[in-house]
This record gives sequence, C-alpha cells and structure tokens, in this order.
Amino acid sequence: MGKYILALDQGTTSSRAILFDRKGEIVSIAQKEFRQIFPKPGWVEHDPMEIWSSQAGVAAEAVTQKGIEGEEVAAIGITNQRETCVVWNRQTGKPIYNAIVWQDKRTLDYCEKLKREKKDKIIKEKTGLIVDSYFSATKVKWILDNVDGAREMAERGELALGTIDTWLVYNFSKRKLFVTDVTNASRTMLYNINSLSWDEDLLDIFNIPASMLPEVRDSSEVYGHIETSLFASRIPISGIAGDQMAALFGQLCVKKGMVKNTYGTGCFMLMNIGDKPIFSENNLLTSVAWKIKGEVVYALEGSIFIGGAVVQWLRDGLGIIKRSEDIEKLAGTIESSEGVYFVPSFAGLGAPHWNQKAKGTIFGLTRGTTDAHISRASLEAIAYQSMDIMKAMEADSGIKIRELRVDGGATVNNLLMQFQADVLNTQTIRPKITETTALGAAYLAGLAVGFWEDIDALKEIWVEGEKFESSKERTNIEEGISGWYKAVRAVESWTEL
Ligand code: G3P
Repeated sequence: MGKYILALDQGTTSSRAILFDRKGEIVSIAQKEFRQIFPKPGWVEHDPMEIWSSQAGVAAEAVTQKGIEGEEVAAIGITNQRETCVVWNRQTGKPIYNAIVWQDKRTLDYCEKLKREKKDKIIKEKTGLIVDSYFSATKVKWILDNVDGAREMAERGELALGTIDTWLVYNFSKRKLFVTDVTNASRTMLYNINSLSWDEDLLDIFNIPASMLPEVRDSSEVYGHIETSLFASRIPISGIAGDQMAALFGQLCVKKGMVKNTYGTGCFMLMNIGDKPIFSENNLLTSVAWKIKGEVVYALEGSIFIGGAVVQWLRDGLGIIKRSEDIEKLAGTIESSEGVYFVPSFAGLGAPHWNQKAKGTIFGLTRGTTDAHISRASLEAIAYQSMDIMKAMEADSGIKIRELRVDGGATVNNLLMQFQADVLNTQTIRPKITETTALGAAYLAGLAVGFWEDIDALKEIWVEGEKFESSKERTNIEEGISGWYKAVRAVESWTEL
C-alpha cells in the first residue's frame, strides 16, 4: 500500500493537486490557474482541454516535486467545481463546445419561462434545487439547441455529457470510465435525489437524451485506474465529490446537524441533515452530501454570492486597502462600525433572500465615517450573511446549531472569525488543515482503498486549529443584528421601487 493519497481539486479559477500522508497532513501542493472566458456579458466559459491539461500537469507536479514515485500513491480522489458541464463527442473524445460555468447566466430567461410554466414545484420536489441558471440542465439544453448539429448527434447517441469530475475521470482513464458520483449528479437538475437516479420527467422537461448521461456511483469506491502515462503505475481513482460536499466531509461533519462554511469569493454553508432529504421552506437547496458503502447522507446548502469578493472590491474598486490581508488591521483600528452597514449585494442577494435585482448598498454614513468603518462593515456583512443562512438552516431542520466549522481564504482573519462566533452565538472552529476540500476528497479516496479504515480513524487524525467562542455580553451584538435586518429590508424594498 502506498504512503500517500493524491487529491485533485479542480476549482473555478485554478486546478490544484495536494498530496496527503497517512496523518492527513499536506506533503506537497501544486496549482495552476487557467483562462476565464467571457464571450458576452453574463457568460462564463472554460476550455475543457485546458481544464484537463492543467489538472494533469499539477497532478504530476505534486508527486514529482518531492521525488515521490507513482507507486507510493495509494489512490486518487477528485473534487471539482460543481454544475459546470461539458458536452463531448464520444467518438473523438473532443468537446463540442466550451464548458459552461456555474456562474454563467445565459439561461436566465429560460429559467423565468420554466417558473411561469410552474415547473419549479416538480423540479424542487425531485431535485431539491431552485430553478436557476446556476445548475447544469439549462446549460446543456443551451448547447444542444445552439451548437450546429448537436441535437441530432445527441439523438443518435453520439454525445456524452459530464460535470467536471466526469470529464477528468474520462480523460485520466483514457476514455474507459464514464462515471460521476451522487453529489455531482445532484447538482445537474436532472437527478432525482429521492430515488437516486436520473429522472425521465426532468430529462423530458429539458429535452436531454438519457444516452448522454454517465453512470452514477458512490462518492467513495474504486471506479477504475489512471491509464495515462502520467504516472508509472496504475493508481486507483477511488473518491469523487463536488467541492462543497468534499469540504463538508473534510471538516468531518459526519453527524446530523454538523455545519461547515467555506469563505471564498462567495460563501457556501452546508449542513449534514442525515439520511433523509429535507426540502427547504426557506429557499435553501437540498443535495446529496455523499454516498459511502451504499449509505446516503443529504445536505442543506445556502450560498452567499459576495463573501471575500467584498474585500477584493475594497482593494480593487475603492483602493482603501492594498492587499486583502490589510483589511483586518484597518477594521481593527475601531471598536465597532458605529452604525455603518454594508449589504454587498453586487450580484443580487443569494440564499435565503434570492433577490436577483438587489444592488450593493452602504447605510448609516456620517461625517465621521472613515475607510475603517467601511472595512469593518464589510467583514461584518460576510458574517451577517452567513448568519441569515444559518438561521434558515435551523428553521428548516429544527436543529439548533452549536458549532460552525470554517475553511477558505478569509478564515485567516481572526476579527471576522470572532465576529462570526458572536453573531451566530455558536462556537466557530478553524481546523489545523484548512485545505478541507482537498482533504475531503483524499479521505473519500483513502477510505475506499483501506488507506484509512473507517470514519473513526479519520476522527483520530482530524485536528482542530483555533476555537472562537461567542461573547457573553449580547446587547450590542443583538442591536447590530437588528440593524442588519433593517438594512437588508431597505435594500429589498428599494429594488421594488
Ligand atoms: O457551486 C459552485 C462551487 O462548487 C464552486 O466552488 O471553490 O470552485 O468556487 P469554487
């Protein structure tokens, strides 16, 4: 048995590979950014060949940079940006169009039409998802309707459809494997999360032939092997999960009611809700969290569109900080934001509000307001938005959340983490290894090949980093929270004018 597990983390802006040892510690990391293609306003595409070559390149680099041989790698786990999809020709293995990225909004009007036709109810009952251009189905339909000859080819069974996991495994296995896992399938809007199968009615609604679809497998099992000449040995591929689900697993949120929040450009909060789906009444999404040894676990999910991106805006748009990390110092020069609230709805408001028209707004400015207040209000906005999601999760699940596990770039910011613990009134835990997405993929792959025996073995190696306890004095915090609600309400009523 090899000494390492290689996790491939194919994200929205870069392809990464991280090698973990048996203690779950990082041995090496390789990363490569790739092109973001914006053919029209609101459209976002990736070149699937570039996704593949950058991912293959970093996979090899992570292993060779430490002089490690392929045979020392016990297994490979894959985690990926979700919903982004590729359609390719089965004969040539070549994509017929660029990958359409989850952020792409070209199918907004079609989504509105589906809602007018009242298809949203059945779609939600079957998939746990809200009708939105975010998910894969409308993107695939767009490709079939708009690429010359695509529909005819699809009907003749000549095309294959995959999320990024499927595309990578297909290429790594030299076209032998055409598979996905339940977590990725559950974000396509074609997969029934109750029956755990591709759904005929959904395929009908979106007019997508079933012949295009990959086989859906567990998140942790040996699917096959790497067949390319990348490594000298045939390493098993034995874990697949969408990145947010992988992070939930990497945070070891393995018990019902456990929650993680990832602070990236946006924020993704997921709660383990156990072995039955809960269909949200508060505009959250329900997806499959993982399936291991045939046992399925579901998750409730809420996403915030602008999280760390608000800090980038302070840096690039306003120029009040030079580097993102400068925000903590600047915001820390004052004790409170003194009534300044920033609702950073640059891209509308995500869960639980789902207001596509909302615009970013700052409230409570006075002559005494400085860049420090705006900075502090920006960090607070990240925490308040996360609080909105957590409250919705508590309402949907009936579970009081006692602890939040956090990861992602912005979690290095202690001021934000403390404020997060305060507004949630829960403990906030930052693990020692914050590369939890890759770690989750490594755990899934390692479990399948016996590298780690079971989840209990993972609990022994998972190390808590820092804990942020909520402050006992609640008056100011509660006042701050009511101010936030007022600000969000004002943004919403302004969009109605
Ligand atoms: O649903 C989209 C999400 O999977 C993207 O994650 O980390 O690539 O931005 P990330």
